[in-house]
Amino acid sequence: MVQPSNSAYLLGGLLGLFLLVPVQMAQTPASMCTPLKTLNDSLSQRRRYMKHNFPINYTIKVHHNEIFKVSSISKMRLLVEGLDELVLQRLWFQVNQGVLKKIIRVLPERHPSRPYTARLESRFRDLEGVFVQAHPAEVFQQELPETIQDTWDRLTEEPERVPPSSWRYASPKTLLDNLCYTMRCLFRECFASTEAQQDYCDVSHQRKGKKKRLKLKS
Ligand SMILES: *[C@@H]1O[C@H](CO)[C@@H](O)[C@H](O)[C@H]1NC(C)=O
Ligand SMILES: *[C@@H]1O[C@H](CO)[C@@H](O)[C@H](O)[C@H]1NC(C)=O
Repeated sequence: MVQPSNSAYLLGGLLGLFLLVPVQMAQTPASMCTPLKTLNDSLSQRRRYMKHNFPINYTIKVHHNEIFKVSSISKMRLLVEGLDELVLQRLWFQVNQGVLKKIIRVLPERHPSRPYTARLESRFRDLEGVFVQAHPAEVFQQELPETIQDTWDRLTEEPERVPPSSWRYASPKTLLDNLCYTMRCLFRECFASTEAQQDYCDVSHQRKGKKKRLKLKS
């Protein structure tokens, strides 16, 4: 049997101390890294399944708040002073749950991208389960900052009550690109080691990356 060593107690004590200090930048719990990487792996096939299997320029109707990009995150951080990462992470789950649902809804039963999308959604749900488990329940009852609550309410509104001006059209590939880039920004502790120099929350970084890819393609 394994006896807890002195150093384990010491570590526990240090962690306890750490928890007493209010932490502005909530860390991504380590337990989330495996499901995050699994989802990240699935997302690497998004071009094949979300572009090639769809008609050219195919778009689906989404709420404008569902166009949730890295720049949306920067904007919210500017708008709400001291915005907790955890709040943004919760919003990320809320937004992308809706996005995945909308993509699945347009896919007929036998569409070649359907199994892929279903798998993606199931991995997303697994991740959400780990996320919820990794935090005390009170965290999810905490009041949200007004702007965020507002966004949240609009996302969960009955579709009939959404004003027509709030709808946007986006391709499934673009929506999954957003999901992927914002995931790497909001849970960056789990993605940091692979590319130490990359700041996944830096919008200009991403543009550069895109340009490079375009050049490689031509
Ligand atoms: C995430 O996926 C990309 C490919 O889409 C890969 O380059 C990167 O190494 C992956 N990151 C992790 C942490 O698995
Ligand atoms: C797709 O969109 C691009 C840019 O808006 C346009 O130039 C192109 O003609 C469109 N292709 C089709 C097949 O509709």
